[in-house]
Amino acid sequence: MSQYLMNNYGERSHSLNRGEGCYLFDDSGQRYLDALSGIAVCGLGHCHPQVTRAITEQAQTLLHTSNLFNIEQQEKLAHALCEISGMEKAFFSNSGAEANEAAIKISRLYAEKKGITDPVVIVTEGSFHGRTMATLSATGNPKVRQGFAPLVQGFKHVPYNEPVAIAEQCKSGNVVAVLIEPVQGEGGVRVPDADYLTELRQICDQYDCLLMLDEIQTGNARTGRYFAFQHSDIRPDVLTTAKGLGNGVPIGACLASGVAAELLQAGTHGSTYGGNPLVCATALATVTELRKDSLLDNVNARSQQLFEGLRLALKECPRVKDIRGKGLMVGIELDQPCGQLVEQAWQKGLIINVTAGNTVRLLPPLIINEEHIEQLVNTVSELIRGI
Ligand SMILES: Cc1ncc(COP(=O)(O)O)c(C=O)c1O
Repeated sequence: MSQYLMNNYGERSHSLNRGEGCYLFDDSGQRYLDALSGIAVCGLGHCHPQVTRAITEQAQTLLHTSNLFNIEQQEKLAHALCEISGMEKAFFSNSGAEANEAAIKISRLYAEKKGITDPVVIVTEGSFHGRTMATLSATGNPKVRQGFAPLVQGFKHVPYNEPVAIAEQCKSGNVVAVLIEPVQGEGGVRVPDADYLTELRQICDQYDCLLMLDEIQTGNARTGRYFAFQHSDIRPDVLTTAKGLGNGVPIGACLASGVAAELLQAGTHGSTYGGNPLVCATALATVTELRKDSLLDNVNARSQQLFEGLRLALKECPRVKDIRGKGLMVGIELDQPCGQLVEQAWQKGLIINVTAGNTVRLLPPLIINEEHIEQLVNTVSELIRGI
């Protein structure tokens, strides 16, 4: 255990010191195929030349000025994200949780505008929205909230993928927003019914509340569209993203449209670092690559290969309860806890993750190729069959 680091991440037994494309290397030079991407962050893989160039050029020019000044790179990034998403305005943060904090603050200002003094944001069981006080209060996993009372008030948890439960709550008249992950990531890669978001859009319109999508994990091409909501034909009022946005530099964004885009006014919110020249230049280079048709085509083709490969290889395996996901966000739910597979995979030169205790989660870089997927399918299915 580290002498100087707090123990919130527990024991960490391995170190990595170099990355290249879909591979990571440890101190001894051993190579690992990365099927985690720093938890859905490095979509372009490690040390992508365009990302490295953007960081290097910006570092040689200007790192930081503060939001007391115009930041050209911020403008350009906001423009690109609005163009991609159909949203209208952006606020930049340093992380996903902070992007959600901005969304939650927007919902409170919306309540104030409507004269609602006891506003409620509907959130779902099994969700994950971050580790700050407001976002952990919104999170639908009791373990994340445990020990942090008193929690931030004003969140109501309902079952995921049940629009009726949300409509029921909205009848109370004080619901101002619905905050939802289009696919629950930390909750076990849970994919809702295809019309879930469309139904939520209708409910939010009917009850005049904001549809706020947490695309911190699903955004930035992870599911095969730039944003996961683009698999449906709706548009949210508020959209948060982070993780893949900067390919490894810390940046998050809260995008908004319509009335929601006008609620944060001068002095109501801010961040010293948020959206500084370095992270915005890097994110712009990242977004420029991620939005290319060739990248999205690769995500969809490799996704199909991965799902077909896993389903075939694990067809007869009685321990597999479900194989699900979207794009390159894949969960293999087993009938038992399977945390030990992470170390076993490491020993075979593969980096994977287990979430929700019993679900192997695969989040490979979006640039992954056919041979990598073959290796991934073979190693993961061999490990699962060996339990
Ligand atoms: C859906 C979702 N929201 C929010 C967060 C929090 O993001 P961050 O860790 O950057 O604060 C995460 C992180 O896993 C996430 O998956």
